[in-house]
Amino acid sequence: MSFTNILTEKKGGLLTITINRPEKLNALNRETIQELNEALNLAHHDEEVRCLILTGSGQKAFVAGADISEFAHFSVEEGRKLSHDGQVKLFDKLENFHKPVIAAVNGFALGGGLELAMACHIRIASDNAKMGLPEVSLGVIPGYGGTQRLPMLIGRGRANQLIFSAEMINAETAASWGLVNKTVPQEQLLAECEALADKICKNSPKAIAFAIEAVNAGFEDGVNGYEAEIDAFGRAFGTADFKEGTTAFLDKRKPVFAGK
Ligand code: COA
Repeated sequence: MSFTNILTEKKGGLLTITINRPEKLNALNRETIQELNEALNLAHHDEEVRCLILTGSGQKAFVAGADISEFAHFSVEEGRKLSHDGQVKLFDKLENFHKPVIAAVNGFALGGGLELAMACHIRIASDNAKMGLPEVSLGVIPGYGGTQRLPMLIGRGRANQLIFSAEMINAETAASWGLVNKTVPQEQLLAECEALADKICKNSPKAIAFAIEAVNAGFEDGVNGYEAEIDAFGRAFGTADFKEGTTAFLDKRKPVFAGK
């Protein structure tokens, strides 16, 4: 399948998706969100794909936000729909994706761009990255999950500071606040993410999917995360991956997981 606004590259079990609108600092327009949705659907059904990296094209930006030119004239109803559709099509889908997604934050991650990185399971940033939620400077608020995911990641006080001030923080501060796991020189960013993806790809895809489910359950309203963990733990025992993993350990060999 060919896309206009994104590039996809498969290498072994790793799928790298690159948002490719560098002249607009990879701003997320509706078409890009739709294409990302479709790329995730394809990755969902592709058994070869075990881990994903999401990044932006060029040296300057991961994603500089939702495309402001698309919503500048929106009504109340259109604004609500923009937020709702984006959350369903992309942001919630990413967070609940059953294969790990690593955000390689290679520059500006602002507004919808930071929200996109936060919806991924893991974030690694290049040392030139700048992050923030500048929406209130435009008279709006974060609408792709930013008011929820930012406090979860860095605590309410720091999240309030970033959201109310619209200020940007650099990669070093982002790492010290836990917004990204690690900061590396820009030229090492993809290699760093790929090395992590390699480790992930060696493990049981089934177990990882269960782990994503259990971790996310703890952040869902009205769901008991411990019970969700017990349930997912139990289901893991019914998988071929579990048999392979335990048998390989006892046989003193490396497991080969089929993801079943
Ligand atoms: N939506 C639409 N277009 C955007 C964009 C966005 N979120 N962010 C950048 N662009 C476009 C610019 O309009 C410009 O297009 P043009 O060349 O056709 O005029 C191009 O990308 C380059 O951006 P520019 O502003 O010239 O780069 P810069 O280096 O001077 O500034 C930023 C970089 C990131 C500080 C600045 O682009 C910016 O503030 N972007 C908006 C960030 C934002 O508010 N995001 C939240 C949206 S909800």
